[in-house]
Amino acid sequence: MTQPATTASSRRPTIVHAVGARPNFVKVAPVVEALERTGEFNQIVVHTGQHYDAKLSDDVLADLEFPPPDYFLGVGSGPHGQQTAKVLAAFEHILLDVRPDVVLVAGDVNSTLACALAASKLQIAVAHLEAGLRSRDWSMPEEVNRVLTDRMSDVLLTHSPEALDNLTAEGIDPDRVHYVGNTMIDSLRRCEGRARARAAFCDHGLHQSEYVLVTFHRPGNVDDPCRLAQIVNALIELSRHAPVVFPVHPRTRARLADSGDLARLQMGGVRCIDPVAYLDFLSLQLGAGAIVTDSGGIQEEASALGVDCYTFRPNTERPVTITHGSNRLMGDDPAEIARVRPSRWDPTPCAIPLWDGRAAERAAGVLVARFRSRQPAEAAA
Ligand code: UD1
Repeated sequence: MTQPATTASSRRPTIVHAVGARPNFVKVAPVVEALERTGEFNQIVVHTGQHYDAKLSDDVLADLEFPPPDYFLGVGSGPHGQQTAKVLAAFEHILLDVRPDVVLVAGDVNSTLACALAASKLQIAVAHLEAGLRSRDWSMPEEVNRVLTDRMSDVLLTHSPEALDNLTAEGIDPDRVHYVGNTMIDSLRRCEGRARARAAFCDHGLHQSEYVLVTFHRPGNVDDPCRLAQIVNALIELSRHAPVVFPVHPRTRARLADSGDLARLQMGGVRCIDPVAYLDFLSLQLGAGAIVTDSGGIQEEASALGVDCYTFRPNTERPVTITHGSNRLMGDDPAEIARVRPSRWDPTPCAIPLWDGRAAERAAGVLVARFRSRQPAEAAA
């Protein structure tokens, strides 16, 4: 564990940003920046180390110009209970040391739940960025993490209108809920120009819009060898019709290597590459004629960019990407994957309300209003 680089001044409230996995970095980076501009908080960043490969962590942080974490917990991988418990114990230790006024957690990964729980038990306020998403699929670890984190949160920052309905239906006080928009899209807009200029598809000898970009990492898709083999068959079939670029998540790579399907994919013509950092992945999305994915965030990024996105899941916690974006659900029949074709049409970026590149500014406004007013005596001192 490293020592904090930031020391708390006694006048300003202290916020701890808890991040651990790739999507957290993308969501939280613009909030750190927006809060820094207000000058109202001492900010401390804690990286749990849930993601630790350079491609999933350091390279993404560098692309986002994320400030170096003040603490690195180094929890690494493990079964859910073990990983969550390691974050819980290590993060509690930091909280006892730092005693912040608020902890900001983002999204739905194991680190999100563990850090919210540690804070909640110490009666430290929790702010949840991307609150209120619901797939209603309790077999997804992310759904468990979301519901429990929301239940413990004092400030719920939402990115789409249906989140408020989901939260009020669960009895959460609507006064705690603030519709600020999507900070992931703030990062996207900030980096889009650089990503476009990069044209990462050229590195793979491809042209704009001719290829299908594919990602799979959800346990429901990759942990069952039969299902994985069916997906592999479909991808090989798809690659007979269009080039397929597949940045392979470490979890997926391990499963594919175990079953011998990695070699089968490669021999079948699918371009299996290592995970790529943030700018390169945005660039590959910008150049794609279609995207096939089981990711949550990619449904959002593809919609913001207007690239056709086929989500290989029976449900989504992000229905706004279907009603207002370029996302569609494929269900769970792997044969459907082989029927995807790249679109030659120019992408038409969507206009989801408050996905406008300024969500972090609004989130910062909510946090400043809430936590500045909690400390009138200190502020006056
Ligand atoms: C996690 C999130 C998921 C999110 C995804 C983004 C949970 C429950 N899941 O899934 O919601 O969409 O991050 O990528 O928190 N591994 C490495 N190197 C790493 C990280 C992981 O090799 O840097 C391997 C390990 O074998 C590990 C496996 O990937 O066991 C899974 O990692 P884990 O963090 O548990 O979940 P993800 O599948 O990455």
